[in-house]
Amino acid sequence: MKTSSEIRQDFLDFFKSIGHKIVPSAPVIPYEDPTLLFTNAGMNQFKDVFLGTGKRDYSRCANTQKCIRVSGKHNDLEVVGHDGYHHTFFEMLGNWSFGDYHKKEAIAWAWELFTGVWKLPKERLWATVYKDDDEAYNLWKSETDIDPSHVLKFDEKENFWEMGDTGPCGPCSEIHIDLTNDGCKKEDINSGNDDVIEIWNLVFIQYDRDEKGKLHDLPQKHVDTGMGFERVVRVLQKKNSNYETDVFLPLINELIDITKKEYSGDKHQSSMNVIADHVRTLTFAIGDGAIPSNEGRGYVLRRILRRAARYGRNLGMREPFIYKLVDVLVKTMSHVFPEIKEKKKFIKEVIQAEEESFNETLDRGLVYFNEEIENMEKKGEKVFSGDVAFKLHDTYGFPIDLTQLMAREKGLSVDDKKFDILMKEQKDRARKAREETSVTSEVNIDVKKDVSYNPYDIKPEGIKTKLELTKSENGHKIAVLRNNPFYSESGGQVSDIGKLIIPEKNIEFTVIDSKKDYVVIDSPISEIPEGVEIIAKVDFNRRQSVQRNHSATHLVHEALRRVLGPHVKQMGSYLDDKLLRFDFPHFHKLKPEEIAAIEDIVNDKIKENISVNWEIMPIGKADKIPNVKKFFGEKYGDDVRVVFIDEGFSVEFCGGTHVPETSDIGLFKIVKEESISSGTRRIFARTGEGIITLIDENISDIEKLLSDLPEKYKTNFKGAINELNASYKGIDFRDAGTLKKLIEYQDLTYNSLLGLREKYFEERKQEEKKLAKQKVEKESEKLGSLVTSAPLIEGVKVVTTLSDVDSMDELKSIGDKLRQIDVNVVGATAAIIDGKVNIVAVVSDNLIKQKRLDAGKIAKDMAKIVGGGGGGKPHLATAGGKDVSKLDEAMGQVKNIVKKYLKV
Ligand code: SER
Repeated sequence: MKTSSEIRQDFLDFFKSIGHKIVPSAPVIPYEDPTLLFTNAGMNQFKDVFLGTGKRDYSRCANTQKCIRVSGKHNDLEVVGHDGYHHTFFEMLGNWSFGDYHKKEAIAWAWELFTGVWKLPKERLWATVYKDDDEAYNLWKSETDIDPSHVLKFDEKENFWEMGDTGPCGPCSEIHIDLTNDGCKKEDINSGNDDVIEIWNLVFIQYDRDEKGKLHDLPQKHVDTGMGFERVVRVLQKKNSNYETDVFLPLINELIDITKKEYSGDKHQSSMNVIADHVRTLTFAIGDGAIPSNEGRGYVLRRILRRAARYGRNLGMREPFIYKLVDVLVKTMSHVFPEIKEKKKFIKEVIQAEEESFNETLDRGLVYFNEEIENMEKKGEKVFSGDVAFKLHDTYGFPIDLTQLMAREKGLSVDDKKFDILMKEQKDRARKAREETSVTSEVNIDVKKDVSYNPYDIKPEGIKTKLELTKSENGHKIAVLRNNPFYSESGGQVSDIGKLIIPEKNIEFTVIDSKKDYVVIDSPISEIPEGVEIIAKVDFNRRQSVQRNHSATHLVHEALRRVLGPHVKQMGSYLDDKLLRFDFPHFHKLKPEEIAAIEDIVNDKIKENISVNWEIMPIGKADKIPNVKKFFGEKYGDDVRVVFIDEGFSVEFCGGTHVPETSDIGLFKIVKEESISSGTRRIFARTGEGIITLIDENISDIEKLLSDLPEKYKTNFKGAINELNASYKGIDFRDAGTLKKLIEYQDLTYNSLLGLREKYFEERKQEEKKLAKQKVEKESEKLGSLVTSAPLIEGVKVVTTLSDVDSMDELKSIGDKLRQIDVNVVGATAAIIDGKVNIVAVVSDNLIKQKRLDAGKIAKDMAKIVGGGGGGKPHLATAGGKDVSKLDEAMGQVKNIVKKYLKV
């Protein structure tokens, strides 16, 4: 029996022998194509070639492509695991012709591989063609020796292949195999019969479908074929399901091992199938850079993981376990896809963290779900409530498809409409909240720009331009400028602020925000005629600080990758004139030495004084720059702006503004590092004069610290602070060496001061302890004579005494001494501490036993008198109250209280 690796190799060798270049699989995340969440077919990476917008230096190729089908046009999620041949992740073996060979060769070679190389029984093979494609229909008969009655025609549903709603497409011809015992009939083809399955699809790409649904002829005709690898392995290994092949068996065996369940019975089998399938999707998607999250492809992954976790409950698994399967998967597949080996540790960490966080709500959600099912059963209802589905989603993190799945298992449907309404309401509420805090006005005019105007080129004195339009919206005043130099927030960079000056009228306005098409100003502009000449003056210093932070963000992005690993990528960033913030996936707190290494890389690049360049170029060209950084899900136009800081170091798609040379950044320092959600870390950093501000803030902290300390501790530091204050004033922040020294000096000063303060507090604590002990001893001296002279009630000595101490602890020590002086003592001691009454009531052990006296009860009674509360153990209890004037009364009452409990 051939192994799956041999079968894959057979395919590649076959096409190599007929002139095909063997190319690598594209990532499962289609970075280049915003119309797709995941790579869903081998042809995705060649979309540009089909459309005629890109070229390769070969006209035929083949490969095995990692594909994920869980959303969009091609989506088999519901049946995955329940039948033996649909998957969310699978390999597609494909061969392509770019304007080279066409139907005749594609059909003949497919037949040759199946029947000549793999010797599949001809009588078990069927071919389908598009109803109008007589050419393909006839070619099957002339070019192969297929049974002519096994060539069938179907309509567009079966035999017209499209990548998505738009893009390259064309009629196709599929090869199906009959795995039934007795041979199938033609009615069984495309009927959903689990033993009659499609294994290879030959697509004859010749159209491009546009956004309106219209088909356009492509300049050339192409071939795009895709064979289900796991299916063909199943056929050649003669198994009943893909899960029984050597592709899945190692995973299934590991699951048997982990869960201690058998791979038998519908429930266990399908649960293991689903989990084995889903862990492949998770591993490859995370390996190629996706991360579970609450939106887009990240949410698809989260849904997949939660589905798998819930199937894990079917196998009795309550602790995270899916991540453990990654080792086996890496062992069986990394010879083909080495990226999963490189990222193994990270992949496991991401999956485990996701499992852990869902486990926290999964059980409670299941209880809630089951309660609803019971209610429904009682009432005989069949439609699961949309409100409950929403709560399951909102509170327990159950994706709707998980609720639907669980409902289906009970033979119920879900009120999706209501669920959608509630989701929409929630989104609307969030949007409204956002809108209330921002200006959302749309200015419907064509914003004019002069041809020669360069928006990145601002000048300290401002630029002369024209006021095109003014408007008042939501209490905000809006001005539309020709040649607007104000940057409007995007890519994390804040909007510019500044001034609009109208020389003719001798007035000026403050710009408080800038949007894409207009600026927001602080006071009405209505009396100003439109078309007037205006000077638009961006706050130049602020913009320069912002730019320092933006260029530093690019540098730190690469530095993080180099120090922490290639899994780091920007998940979010924010930068203004004070600091920069950068979020990225990583599972560990950054160690001080890692932070230092990152800072060093960035500061070295600053010192190298590299010029920062940018270029607008066609996306096709930009995409090919090695290691270029761009952002997921971002829709880029035909042309993109690319910012280069040393070509071998940092190249990013970016529309923001930057320093001309890295030395302008001055210096870079990470000031904070934290976790913002599981697996996502955030750093804050400062640059240039932001570091001066940091030193300023720290110096004021140092000064605050100093004020806490007695004079004898201060002396050394005062001089240091003065020196520091004097030296950093007027410093050029580009003088990195001096700044660095300053920072180190300041750190040293601050830290040694902290150490000293600790020491001071420790010393003070020890001193206070010693004093307290002395006080207790002094106060206890009088206890002996008090006991001797105490009045007797039924043989019980009742003692009350006021103590001069400063804490309840001291008071308790005195009380404890009192109750041990004599076997028949009951009493109370009290002090006024911080303006409040503190009382300790005590009873000697003997009296607890013999007379059932209870200090707790006594304390409570006393507390009532002083307007407070009290309680404790029978031997010692405390009471407190605000009414200091009643303390004497309370002490005087002790005798009566004791009498009450002695029932005298
Ligand atoms: N693109 C076609 C498919 O995915 C053939 O590769 O089925």
